[in-house]
Amino acid sequence: MKILVIGGGGREHALVWKLRQSPAVERIWCAPGNDGISEDAECLPAKTSDVAVLATLAESLRADLTVAGPEQPLVLGIADEFARRGLVLLGPSLEAAQLEGSKIFAKEFMHRYAIPTASTYGTFDSAAKAREVLANADMPVVVKADGLCAGKGVLVTSSAGEAATFITRLMESDDFGAAGNRVIIEECLQGPELSYIVLTDGEKFVPLAPSRDYKRLSDGNFGPNTGGMGAISSNELLSSEMERVIQEKIVRPTIEGIAKDAAPYRGFLYFGLMMTAAGPRVLEFNCRLGDPETEALVMRMNFDLAETLFAAAKGRLANAEMSWQPRASCCLVLAAEGYPQRPKLGARISGLSSQEKLSSTAVFHAGTRKVDGQYCVNGGRVLTVAAAGDNLAQARLRAYSAAKKISFDGMHYRGDIGSEMNRAVGEVARS
Ligand code: AMP
Ligand code: GLY
Repeated sequence: MKILVIGGGGREHALVWKLRQSPAVERIWCAPGNDGISEDAECLPAKTSDVAVLATLAESLRADLTVAGPEQPLVLGIADEFARRGLVLLGPSLEAAQLEGSKIFAKEFMHRYAIPTASTYGTFDSAAKAREVLANADMPVVVKADGLCAGKGVLVTSSAGEAATFITRLMESDDFGAAGNRVIIEECLQGPELSYIVLTDGEKFVPLAPSRDYKRLSDGNFGPNTGGMGAISSNELLSSEMERVIQEKIVRPTIEGIAKDAAPYRGFLYFGLMMTAAGPRVLEFNCRLGDPETEALVMRMNFDLAETLFAAAKGRLANAEMSWQPRASCCLVLAAEGYPQRPKLGARISGLSSQEKLSSTAVFHAGTRKVDGQYCVNGGRVLTVAAAGDNLAQARLRAYSAAKKISFDGMHYRGDIGSEMNRAVGEVARS
């Protein structure tokens, strides 16, 4: 099998790393990839927004399967372009990807199908109206841009002033472009978060192991939202009764509803959930795998990912099986100075060669570049260090020991990824 992976971050590096372990894989490319990924795949220059160019690339490479990592090409219709040309790609159509592409579309969809989610104070296309409603909203409150903002279009705050400033930034300054033309203001939910991702061919679905990402910048879940600062995966995140509730109240109605309203959904479908005292609530849908959840998940994939993805892309998911070993994994994002506001690029990275000797550990490159033979910082999220273990404590220990061996000027990462699990396991299982 010859596989093309689209994207160039830690998630795509993790996918390439896992895919190339499959005996069925003969060749693997990544577009555009990055210098770190080029150690595991042939990287080809491309823009992830250029869906026609990417389709031509897949055609000329004679790729048997293309996997779209990020949301942007999916929301722009890459699956439709590939289908038109008779090429095999795993990912939903433009219409189905609206579940992620528009938070207003997603909210209306959830209302239509009674899928539990946060209640709203309304959706707005006028900043003045949004600010007016804010004055009477309960605090804390959540403000969300309608469109794609790379995880930075959501503000959870107890300050009406801060919320009003965010609305101004979204809707009146041009910080987020058209993505900020409309906003949702919604109720703030409380509880542990869970990333529940399924692979579906539009009818059947197979769930991945549960995972959790940590979106806030700083320990204790403080600071601004980021693209994600780390993740864990463990079956302890979810009891089997709660998993049944999620599948029946959320996953099935979503897959059936989107097939009815738009098009059958084929690919990874990610449910960002809040496990509230009243049950699971959907915070967001993503039309792809999570980043950095993927970096944690690949460490536990005890199955042939290439065969599974190919089967799903061909609509033969019934034959797919996923087994997860070992029992837990953890990944840490090593971020650049100034991330997420203004990441500082250029610092030289040391300690990467020390990683080769570590067992059950991998380092995935997200924002690096090789200059004169040495890796340098080239993005906000620089590296993701991932480790697996027989339990979460072991996985965490391995990930943190590996991260300590790496350094660059201004490097920072959270010290508490997965630390809440000691006390939270019981709570989630009971809720
Ligand atoms: P989203 O992109 O919608 O998942 O939002 C990003 C993050 O903001 C989520 O992972 C949560 O941490 C937080 N968030 C979003 N919506 C809510 C909500 N209604 N209540 C509390 N936190 C939220
Ligand atoms: N980790 C959350 C996301 O990929 O959107």
